Amino acid sequence: MAQVGHEVRVFDIDAAKLAMLARGIPPFYEPGFQELLQSTLASGRLLFTESPKEAIEGAQLHFVCVGTPQQQGADAADLSYVEAAFQAVVEHADRPGLVVGKSTVPVGTAERLSNSLSRPDKVCELEVAWNPEFLREGSAIADTLKPDRLVFGVTSESAEGLLVEVYNEILEGGIPYITTDLATSEMVKVAANSFLATKISFINAMAEICEVAGADVVTLSRALGYDERIGARFLHAGLGFGGGCLPKDIRAFSARAGELGAADAVSFLREIDKINLRRRERLVSLVGSAFSGDFLGRHIAVLGAAFKPNSDDVRDSPALNVAAAMHLKGASVRVHDPQAISNAKKMFPTLTYCESIEDACRDADLVVLATEWSDYRVIDPKEFSEIVRRPVLVDGRNALDHSLWTQAGWKVYALGRGKLNR
Ligand code: UDX
Repeated sequence: MAQVGHEVRVFDIDAAKLAMLARGIPPFYEPGFQELLQSTLASGRLLFTESPKEAIEGAQLHFVCVGTPQQQGADAADLSYVEAAFQAVVEHADRPGLVVGKSTVPVGTAERLSNSLSRPDKVCELEVAWNPEFLREGSAIADTLKPDRLVFGVTSESAEGLLVEVYNEILEGGIPYITTDLATSEMVKVAANSFLATKISFINAMAEICEVAGADVVTLSRALGYDERIGARFLHAGLGFGGGCLPKDIRAFSARAGELGAADAVSFLREIDKINLRRRERLVSLVGSAFSGDFLGRHIAVLGAAFKPNSDDVRDSPALNVAAAMHLKGASVRVHDPQAISNAKKMFPTLTYCESIEDACRDADLVVLATEWSDYRVIDPKEFSEIVRRPVLVDGRNALDHSLWTQAGWKVYALGRGKLNR
């Protein structure tokens, strides 16, 4: 928002994060973010404050961008942060304004929150709009400044007008926008993430069949992807999806559908979730088959800890999940990641972490490719066959050129590649 010319004041309950951001240091890894942060700070249009009052007073729009994690012990979303943020706006707003939700919420939340916005003194009218966020980690800046579309859930023409004005510079690039009611705008986000999760689990279900039928999921995926009705994106078979969004969003959607009496409509999402989790078990069993089922004392290198490349996010990371599972089976697991090691250490402190790919692979009995960072695509299999104890590779992301690896003397296993694993 500061980049496109607005005056922005940011409040967060995490003072340490605010302090870093105010100094131009991103509290997480995201390509290009540091440069953007520093240039917008230098413009004077971006301010970080520990005072909610300072952030809220005088603003025309209040963007609520807080997390909605999965509740402890339940599938539903935890809305306490969204509710607290709305309450802060109600408490400190000193003029009429639009409270714009960006958080992913169960359908019906925006309407419920708009009923909580009135203040007894009625000093100022606050209105709710919903403007779901579709950015992906790793390409967050491009996704924000050049999104595929913008969605405005509003209850008045003036709210739509204000959002069009705020996003003017982005919309001028020819980006389509859709104006709709609050409930539909909330639905767009969860439906999009459910569709993406379904597409990934679909190809991973095909991978399961390929494995038993001796077929090849990578070729299958390419052949399907050329069909324009299907499309090649998000059809990459491997360890499946993780992260802070897809897994919890499909669960929260199922939970909300149940509350609305429509559980059957999305009961397939449970299957999507199960297919996804089965990939992690399958990878561990592939590794086990290379060891005749005996993990005890084996040295395993796991390349990748983040849930996807170009991110240091390890929330529900398939890579870390399989690393931990193999550790629990008695293997000695050494994990490498270009960016996510410090986050991974906090989540799984008992695993061993290595600063270099070579250190992780030294004397390994087997190497698992778990996150497809570009650093791993350029590994020279010949050189690495000298470093490891046994040249055995399990490609959990179908990201490497297997012919190069086999030519260099490696035994290669991969998910969904029937012939390869025999
Ligand atoms: C997702 C949505 O894409 C984004 O629109 C939303 O705002 C937030 O959630 P993100 O969690 O950053 O974004 O990651 P995404 O690129 O969607 O990948 C999710 C997971 O699916 C990753 O673990 C990735 O490795 C996996 N994936 C993706 C596959 O396994 N196969 C694919 O073909 C694509």
